[in-house]
Amino acid sequence: MNVIACVHQKGGTGKTTLAISVALTLAQQNQRVLLLDTDYQATASDWGQQFGEIFNIVVRSQVQANIQLEQEIKRFQTRFNWCVIDAAPTLSDITVKILQISHELLIPIRPALPDIWAISRLASLIHQTHRAAGYIPKTKIVFNQYQGETLPPLHAALMQYHLPISPTLLPFDPCFAELFTGQPLSPSLRRLIQNLLTEGGSKQLFDE
Ligand SMILES: Nc1ncnc2c1ncn2[C@@H]1O[C@H](COP(=O)(O)OP(=O)(O)OP(=O)(O)O)[C@@H](O)[C@H]1O
Ligand SMILES: [Mg+2]
Repeated sequence: MNVIACVHQKGGTGKTTLAISVALTLAQQNQRVLLLDTDYQATASDWGQQFGEIFNIVVRSQVQANIQLEQEIKRFQTRFNWCVIDAAPTLSDITVKILQISHELLIPIRPALPDIWAISRLASLIHQTHRAAGYIPKTKIVFNQYQGETLPPLHAALMQYHLPISPTLLPFDPCFAELFTGQPLSPSLRRLIQNLLTEGGSKQLFDE
């Protein structure tokens, strides 16, 4: 099972929206998708309760002690070939566990300096965790809610964190907000998410 996590300690950057969008895109490709909600706010769980079945996505909440996160992943790994984790806007033990068990990390940010500054401690934790584990999962910063902002200064501000930046820009689009009313992802947004998942040519995401 491939584990892909949407993380950022800053609130409202689009983690849950991206996690649901990734889950929808994979499920549309006939992948067996588990969406794991690790946030007490339970937005992904609420979405899952109402719409998960329609889109063939199983949603589970796992906000307990971090050891249980690993157990949950193990428990489900034969049933699903994808686990998409929606992380809470915090840095905690569960964040460390998520960093340890994920194959891929997506860090959505709004194209603004506060979202960039807030990456600092997360970036340190990522580098520290990866050094300790001796491997580096695919990690990408993803601009979300993009509305034509000038990117070079933002890229310059991001340089210090030594984390790759995705060339895929997720636009500000009301369709993303409409996901929470049970709307499917539009074909153009799905293509965008697919680009995000497959860019860089690293991993063949849609193989069994
Ligand atoms: N690309 C986008 N275009 C338009 N609206 C968006 C986009 N991405 C997210 N939103 C909206 O921004 C708000 C915050 O998004 P979301 O809940 O996904 O952020 P989050 O990082 O999960 O927040 P939290 O840190 O509280 O968990 C939501 O209302 C969502 O609909
Ligand atoms: Mg969220």
